[in-house]
Amino acid sequence: MTVVKPYNNSTKGKKQQVAEMFDNIAPKYDFLNHFLSFGIDKIWRRNAIKLLMGHSPRVILDVATGTGDFAIASLKTGAQKVIGVDISEEMLAVGRTKIEAKGLSQRISLQKGDSEELNFADNSFDAVTVAFGIRNFENLSAGLDELFRVLKPNGIVCILEFSKPRNFPFKQFYSFYSFYILPFFGKLFSNDNSAYRYLPESVEKFPDGEALLGLLKDSHFARTRQYRQTFGVATIYIGIKPSLS
Ligand SMILES: C[S@@+](CC[C@H](N)C(=O)[O-])C[C@H]1O[C@@H](n2cnc3c(N)ncnc32)[C@H](O)[C@@H]1O
Repeated sequence: MTVVKPYNNSTKGKKQQVAEMFDNIAPKYDFLNHFLSFGIDKIWRRNAIKLLMGHSPRVILDVATGTGDFAIASLKTGAQKVIGVDISEEMLAVGRTKIEAKGLSQRISLQKGDSEELNFADNSFDAVTVAFGIRNFENLSAGLDELFRVLKPNGIVCILEFSKPRNFPFKQFYSFYSFYILPFFGKLFSNDNSAYRYLPESVEKFPDGEALLGLLKDSHFARTRQYRQTFGVATIYIGIKPSLS
C-alpha cells in the first residue's frame, strides 16, 4: 500500500506528521468537517451508530476519536461508558471542552492513545469504533489487530471511512470537488496548507470496499460487511470478533 503523508517536505514518520496536522487544524476541524461535507458526515455517523444498536454495547472504545463527535453519537446505543483515544492532544482538548459543555463527562472520557499500541487489556470492550481514522494509521494491519485484541468475544467493530465513488457522473464530480474545491476552502479556513490536499490523496490510495473487508478478515474479524453511503463517498464496515479466537 502506498503511504501518503501530510507533509511532502518533512522527514518525520507518518504518525508524527498526522498528529502535527491534526494539532494544527483542531480549532477549525468541526466547522470544516460539517461545512465541507454539507453536514452529510452527521448522517453517516448516525447510520453507523444504528448498526451498533442491535448489539447493545455497554462499554465502547472510540479510536482516533479526534474532537469526540463519534464518541458522543455512540451514546445513542445506550452505552454506559465510552472511552475515546487519539494521538493529537489539540483534537482531544477541543473534544473535552465539547463533552464538558454537554454535561457528558461522566459517560465519555478522552485520553491520549495510539491505535497501534492500545493501552487496554485484551477483551475489554463490547464495541470498538473508528470514524475517519484508519486512513491515517501509519501501520493499518497493526491497528486492526489492536482493535481485535481489545474487543470482547462477540464484540463488534464499526469503521466509518471515506471511499471512492465508482460510477459516472458522481465519480467525476467527486474527483473535481475533492481535488480542487476542498483544498481551496481547507486552505482558506484552516491553518494548514497541506491538510486538505492530504485528505483526497490519502483517500485515493487507501483500500476500500472488498479490499478493506479482506484486511479485516486478515485481522481475524468474522461476519464482515460493508454499507456504502452517498454513492460510495463513505463506507461503513462491520466485523465481529468470533467467540472462539
Ligand atoms: C479525521 S479525524 C477523525 C476524528 C473523529 N473520529 C471524527 O469522526 O470526526 C482523524 C483522527 O485520527 C487520529 N489518529 C490518526 N492516527 C492515529 C493513531 N495511530 N492512533 C490514534 N489516533 C490517530 C488523528 O489524530 C485525528 O484526530
